[in-house]
Amino acid sequence: MEEYLEETERSGRHARPGAPEMARLNACARELVTRRFLQMGYPFDQDVCLKGFYEWLLETGLQDVTLINVGDPYKTEWDMLNTDEFERKAIDFLADGFGFRGGHWGVVTNGGTDGNMHGVYFGRKALAARSPLPPILYVSEEAHYSVRKLGDIQNLETRVIRAHADGTMDTEDLRRRLDPSRPALVAIAIGGTFKGAIDDQKAIDAVLREVRPVAVYRHLDVALFGGYLPYLDDPEAREVVDAAAMHFDSLAVSGHKFLALNEPAGVFICRKEILDDLQSIPVPYLNGVIPTISCSRSGFDPLKLYWRIAATGREGFRKQAEHVLAMTALLRRELDARGVHPLVNRWSNTVIFPRPREEVVHRYCMACSEDAYYGKLAHVVVMQYFQPDLIRQLAADIAEG
Ligand SMILES: Cc1ncc(COP(=O)(O)O)c(C=O)c1O
Repeated sequence: MEEYLEETERSGRHARPGAPEMARLNACARELVTRRFLQMGYPFDQDVCLKGFYEWLLETGLQDVTLINVGDPYKTEWDMLNTDEFERKAIDFLADGFGFRGGHWGVVTNGGTDGNMHGVYFGRKALAARSPLPPILYVSEEAHYSVRKLGDIQNLETRVIRAHADGTMDTEDLRRRLDPSRPALVAIAIGGTFKGAIDDQKAIDAVLREVRPVAVYRHLDVALFGGYLPYLDDPEAREVVDAAAMHFDSLAVSGHKFLALNEPAGVFICRKEILDDLQSIPVPYLNGVIPTISCSRSGFDPLKLYWRIAATGREGFRKQAEHVLAMTALLRRELDARGVHPLVNRWSNTVIFPRPREEVVHRYCMACSEDAYYGKLAHVVVMQYFQPDLIRQLAADIAEG
């Protein structure tokens, strides 16, 4: 193979595009790097610090290897190149923070929607193992729209539950809409996308205990908040995402939000027993049963996620989480001082305020919404890169109207 590799080097297969194409690519790269700290409406860390990872890829030659992880990362008999070991290590680290003490299973997904897709699919399968009746999916109107779309894709009757003004699920509405005769697949928002509200799992549980549907599966969408709640000092915050305390069956956390990967990725984790309900289609040439929805998944994402976890550690995530919430509190104070009184939910890094003028909305790439309670709103999501100077400038610009 030595000769072959030298020949590919000589043959120009490693060549860059021509000068005009490179000029355009470079212009695009310059613009993206210059504007990266002005993407405030979306929960992405724009200082992902992955230089070391990319240098390591070049040092090892992995940049020229195709890496695909197939199906279950916990499989043992597998010849194809893979990074299953690091996928398992990353999942196990996160599962520990989420209190899956009775055993867990998981997979690195293509993002938040893919994680929710597994939640809805695994939920449907787990409920089917307990009742022949078709389940109903319950989700609040403030939860990410992917859950409703996935209900549609998986052909599930879906009941959209009203939300309070702060964005939490209205559990009185859940009580009215919950059908005791059918299995319930409850999708719980731990950080609704626009208002960053955390659904009250204890109140949801009280309703479920009272109405007693024939079977229940709880899936948590912790896309952004799942990256930092497990590391906060406040035990009440950690309890929200603790499977042992809250009895949820599965969750989906995003890799490209608080965990700061630079492209879509995520992790789906469920209680280990749930896997037994997955009567998946056996595929002989793939050496067994594939519980995942996609067959091929990135082998690089698990490496990147493991790199992030190993380089940051629990203490590093704790510091980042405390910084994010401190900067959120600062933005709130700076806005209050200027007469703009934002909505910020408990433990949330999403700051919501009346929609400022278009120029400001576009300059900071804010996310906007029209709300039944508050009218025209915009929000910014405070991430690791937020610093006091940036916040003061932002508050001044928002307050200008
Ligand atoms: C709460 C929540 N869940 C799910 C998603 C969907 O994630 P993705 O865009 O990675 O598919 C988002 C996206 O912003 C989200 O905020």
